[in-house]
Amino acid sequence: MALVTGSSRGIGRAVALKLAERGAAVVVNGRSDTATVESAVAEILDKGGQACGIVADIGQSQGCSQLVQSAISQFGRLDILVNNAGIVRDQLLLRMSDEDWDQVINTNLRGAFLCTRAALRPMLKQRWGRVINIASISGLIGNPGQANYAAAKAGLVAFTKSVAREVASRGITANAIAPGFIQTDMTQRLNASAQEEIVKHIPLGYIGDPQDVAEVAAFLASEKARYITGQVLVVDGGLTMV
Ligand code: NAI
Repeated sequence: MALVTGSSRGIGRAVALKLAERGAAVVVNGRSDTATVESAVAEILDKGGQACGIVADIGQSQGCSQLVQSAISQFGRLDILVNNAGIVRDQLLLRMSDEDWDQVINTNLRGAFLCTRAALRPMLKQRWGRVINIASISGLIGNPGQANYAAAKAGLVAFTKSVAREVASRGITANAIAPGFIQTDMTQRLNASAQEEIVKHIPLGYIGDPQDVAEVAAFLASEKARYITGQVLVVDGGLTMV
């Protein structure tokens, strides 16, 4: 069974659909958007997959533990956790409020910590598990206006490596995916000229699709990736290649 946080839309939804297509029973989650959670579940069921939806705020300690516990009780096990839920509150540092900082760290980093801690218990018992954290190239190279987001994503990368080292001997892998620009609601906020400017710097010449991330997540979740742990896979059309 796979739990994908923030999977009502965007990258998370594509990951949930892909894992379901590859045979996993999937728990779809969104913060408050019941209708989109239900539509993602319906899409999986329509395609012959197994899924259920749980609305929960991973920015709250209780939200995370309830999400993981209900997910486990729905399907009786938990094999794959994808920490995908994330938000942006972009602002230049001098104008960044305490709240902008706290909300982003809370959802993007603390949420992943809380969900992973709750999910590891059954994985340790069954001596198999996959933790996949959706980071960002902002967390690797920084981005003006995203000090909060970049710090959270860099933290998520270091968190991934620490978890990977802690649980490697128990058959559990932990990896991060760092997407570049992917076409979702999150990037839709950029106006057309900002998007054109970004594309100029992407060697492959286009903004990525959620599918591009979903394929990598499905690979990391599979047995084929059993010898990969503590890594960051960059999915950015070559934007940050060195
Ligand atoms: P999106 O804004 O389209 O979707 C975000 C999802 O997270 C939604 O399902 C929303 O309900 C959920 N969510 C937000 N806060 C939540 C909370 N507190 N509790 C539960 N669910 C919550 O975002 P997108 O673009 O699909 O991003 C997904 C992940 O990928 C995020 O972690 C984001 O930082 C990361 N990412 C996205 C990139 C992009 O270009 N779109 C680039 C790099 C990373």
